[in-house]
Amino acid sequence: MAGLKTVIFPVAGMGTRMLPATKVTPKELLPVYDTPLLQFAVREALDAGATRLVMVSHPSKTAIEDYFGPCDDLLAELQSKQKDALVRAVRATNMPADVELVFVMQHEQKGLGHAVLCGSDAVLDGPVGVILPDDLILGAPALAEMADAFDERTMGSLVAAQRVPRDKVSSYGVFDCADGDATVLPAKGFVEKPAPRDAPSNLAAVGRYVLSPAIFDALRATGEGAGGEIQLTDAIAALGRVHAYRFSGTRYDCGDKDGLVRATLAVQEQRGRAHLSVAAE
Ligand code: UTP
Repeated sequence: MAGLKTVIFPVAGMGTRMLPATKVTPKELLPVYDTPLLQFAVREALDAGATRLVMVSHPSKTAIEDYFGPCDDLLAELQSKQKDALVRAVRATNMPADVELVFVMQHEQKGLGHAVLCGSDAVLDGPVGVILPDDLILGAPALAEMADAFDERTMGSLVAAQRVPRDKVSSYGVFDCADGDATVLPAKGFVEKPAPRDAPSNLAAVGRYVLSPAIFDALRATGEGAGGEIQLTDAIAALGRVHAYRFSGTRYDCGDKDGLVRATLAVQEQRGRAHLSVAAE
């Protein structure tokens, strides 16, 4: 067990694929049935044992800070109407007392690697988790599985991975890995958004990472890559000892409209008639 204390949530992106829904509402607060995407991500970080959650946000996305702010008036109103289930659901979104929530601003959207680097001054010692909230993983909590599997002595990084159709590899970071069904696969390389014909495999990275703290030096040394952005994939590859982790849950790409609908239907089914929010489970 790596003892994952810090999880970084890059939430500064523009969310253009979800416009106009994201014109005012940050993508990370879009609901999956009854619960914002970001709430699922926070739950997953807490399940992995994190005690410091670092939101790398953008000054235009103040709704994210508001979401985690006090809501005494709302609670008082619900209590006065004896809406006990809703009181429990709202209270369950509060951070546990021993968990710190820290906001850091990424003023320019210079890519995922740059966003993670923006969080560097806010991390505690030891390996660092990263969750991209728009990759929703239902079922077994992926980051907790990965924190258990991460071995600081032998790994620079452990990155959640799943096979994707060949014609989709150019949307992902892709591992250069031997085929196999092992849960943890060492990779010889890791490339961002390769053309299908150049891709070393169809094993693609999804938004969960456990990273050695040396990643921050690797990011500082990483120049702009694909799309003029600082790519986390490039820094992970430069750091070396990359490992892919085949998580056991089911992933939904909620940065995509159809993916968000599929996730919503899956959560609706999961909830059944209980109408519990994720935070209350
Ligand atoms: P995406 O690649 O999905 O980008 O980022 P995006 O801007 O959110 O969405 P589209 O492509 O315009 O629709 C993956 C994650 O990385 C964050 C995003 O907020 C999202 O959680 N991110 C991306 C940053 O925090 N900063 C960046 O500069 C880029």
